[in-house]
Amino acid sequence: MVEGPLHPLEKKVLRALVERPGGLTLEELAREAGIEIDQARRVIEWLRSRGLLEVEERTRLSYRLGDNGLRAVEEGLPERRLLEILLLGGGKIDMADLVRKGGLSKDEFDAGIGRLVGSGSIEIEGRTVKFVKDNIDSYRYERLLRRIGELDEVFEEQLDEEERAILHELKRRSGYIVPMKHKGVYVRPSLPADELKDLVVEEGIEEITALTPEILADGRWRHVKLTGIDVTTPVPSLYPGREHPISTYSRMVRRAFLSMGFEEVCGGVLQTSFWNFDVLYTPQDHPARDLQDTFYIEGVSLDDVPSDIVDNVGHTHENGWITGSRGWGYEWDAGEARRILLRTHTTVLTVKALHALRSRPLVKVFSIGRVFRNEKADAKHLVEFHQIEGIVKSKNANLRQLMGYISEFYRKLGFTKVKFWPTYFPYTEPSLQIMVHVDELDRWLELGGMGIFRPEVTIPLGVKDPVLAWGLGLERIVMLALGIHDARRLYDNRLSWLRGVSMCQS
Ligand code: PHE
Repeated sequence: MVEGPLHPLEKKVLRALVERPGGLTLEELAREAGIEIDQARRVIEWLRSRGLLEVEERTRLSYRLGDNGLRAVEEGLPERRLLEILLLGGGKIDMADLVRKGGLSKDEFDAGIGRLVGSGSIEIEGRTVKFVKDNIDSYRYERLLRRIGELDEVFEEQLDEEERAILHELKRRSGYIVPMKHKGVYVRPSLPADELKDLVVEEGIEEITALTPEILADGRWRHVKLTGIDVTTPVPSLYPGREHPISTYSRMVRRAFLSMGFEEVCGGVLQTSFWNFDVLYTPQDHPARDLQDTFYIEGVSLDDVPSDIVDNVGHTHENGWITGSRGWGYEWDAGEARRILLRTHTTVLTVKALHALRSRPLVKVFSIGRVFRNEKADAKHLVEFHQIEGIVKSKNANLRQLMGYISEFYRKLGFTKVKFWPTYFPYTEPSLQIMVHVDELDRWLELGGMGIFRPEVTIPLGVKDPVLAWGLGLERIVMLALGIHDARRLYDNRLSWLRGVSMCQS
């Protein structure tokens, strides 16, 4: 059962039916309601699901004129014509004369004479026909024939009782009436007429669903009635062009950091190992540097190993240089540092920004960028994905502030329960994993890493202040927000899914 206010079209259809409790065909209904057949079909379906009308297949009888009927419309019924000839002849005529002047077929002539005699309108004496009295009442018959002729076709229910009796008579005379059977769809109200009327009160008042400038301008707004709109009615789906969810969430992330006073930095996807690993104090034999984890690129050159810091970094790896560390204790290979790779994390961008902005007392930058890992893609891992990176350099930066920034960032995206677990990165101390509680799963999920850059990272760059740093996964956030369990779904470009992603997450 459909609830809610009636649509103006539904009212139109019901109004057409108020007067016709016996029902109408689809075509008649459309005509009487003044709407298109297709519209009528749809509206009938709505009304049917509301339980307001019934639709049934029925057979109806209609009548058209046969040849004799058509003639009678033109020239009158034979009995009428014979009577007129008789009267023109002074009320007395020879039978042979009557036959000649009547110009009727033998059947019609016999039928005509039969009715005149039967009704006592004439008397026959020998060969002479004599007028008695006009008793044939043929006008009523002719009127009905004319009406059928004008309508071309009448349905039984269009006739009143008297007409039906006459029709019955006419049907017995051959060639006057041709009955036809119609099979069709009939629409009938399921309510008594008075209840139906109550539903469609305010007859004559135009109902509209939207105010237009025209209606306001021409003053019609004074007379029309604005109908309620049933917001639960299903509507056709529209698929306008729209943003990919990854872009939407990138924007949200950008807005969150901008609102916390951060500047965005960016950079190329091709980087030297020097910036991607060495500056970040990642030992040259670290497994992350392996071909299995990192895409190295051959045949390109990138002169991005700045001479002012290359020795600082090399010495720090070898023996700790002036950083207070003992270093990794191996011979640092500058050639290894020159290898070109697809960046494996966006920490490469923030550490470069740190170097570039080292003379600023306060640095707060973030970046959102694509990173690459040489591993097999599965539900949890992608070869290309996005990281949300950031650093804060300031004289009194501390771990508590770092936890505050990160909690605040996730809060802005709707994740309110955040906690931090110790972990390890070669470039931070302490190092923490960021865990976010996902209520739907009732689980803590790891969404990123963070820490305070080690002196082995900052001193070679000429940075003395503490630097807070973090790197977070973007895809994880989108997956949690959209309830996706397979990361590959984000990039398989399935239109059916992309179209269905709701604009507002509940
Ligand atoms: N680069 C780390 C990763 O890719 C995240 C990180 C960034 C950790 C900065 C600590 C500091 O997982």
